Amino acid sequence: MRALETDRLTLRPFTADDADFVLDLYSRMDVQRYISGHPPKLMKDRTEAVALIEAWARRDDGTCGIWAVQEKAAEDNVAGQLTGTLLLKPIPASGPEPQESGDIEIGWHFHPDFWGRGYAPEAAAALLQHGFDAGLPRIVAVTNPANTASMRVCGKIGLQAQGTTDRYYNKTCQLFTADNPAGNNAGAES
Ligand SMILES: CC(C)(COP(=O)(O)OP(=O)(O)OC[C@H]1O[C@@H](n2cnc3c(N)ncnc32)[C@H](O)[C@@H]1OP(=O)(O)O)[C@@H](O)C(=O)NCCC(=O)NCCS
Repeated sequence: MRALETDRLTLRPFTADDADFVLDLYSRMDVQRYISGHPPKLMKDRTEAVALIEAWARRDDGTCGIWAVQEKAAEDNVAGQLTGTLLLKPIPASGPEPQESGDIEIGWHFHPDFWGRGYAPEAAAALLQHGFDAGLPRIVAVTNPANTASMRVCGKIGLQAQGTTDRYYNKTCQLFTADNPAGNNAGAES
């Protein structure tokens, strides 16, 4: 899985050493409010975090994957802090059984200590470009209709609002989409 760089951030694979951060992130109601079920399910212990990191590693297919978003090291060489998660992955279709929709979604989960700095749109713009460079024809994002901050991120990275949809996750979501500006499969290796 390819690491990606932005001005302030590095997107890189998670490792087992990141388990404490993953537990801190996903045990928070502020983070889970719009991304897990009803009622939101909070992560309880480090074992769950380690298992999630292992499951994320299996999602790496060279294009899709789950990235840790880390601040770049400061000039005094202090290691940059982990700030959140960026996801590029197949989005499941609504239905009685889990099934593939054929679409690829982009998503973002940041630690509240780092909200409001523009990190999510900065990291997501780089991942969107990575997906298009790899030849994905279309990338979607879905948000809870009450998740104003996430809908703002969609707008900031140029995703087009398409209204509500029931197509994914057995939920009513706001749908945002972007088509590959280079056309279908334009970036795929020949
Ligand atoms: C959605 C999320 C990724 C936004 O990340 P971010 O790095 O803060 O993004 P930005 O800094 O660009 O802020 C996005 C908007 O949220 C607003 N915002 C950020 N922090 C906020 C806070 N604590 N309270 C209220 N609004 C806040 C910002 O003002 C901004 O709106 P603006 O562009 O009108 O100023 C982040 O809130 C998050 O991780 N939430 C929990 C997980 C989640 O819901 N993910 C999305 C699933 S679809």
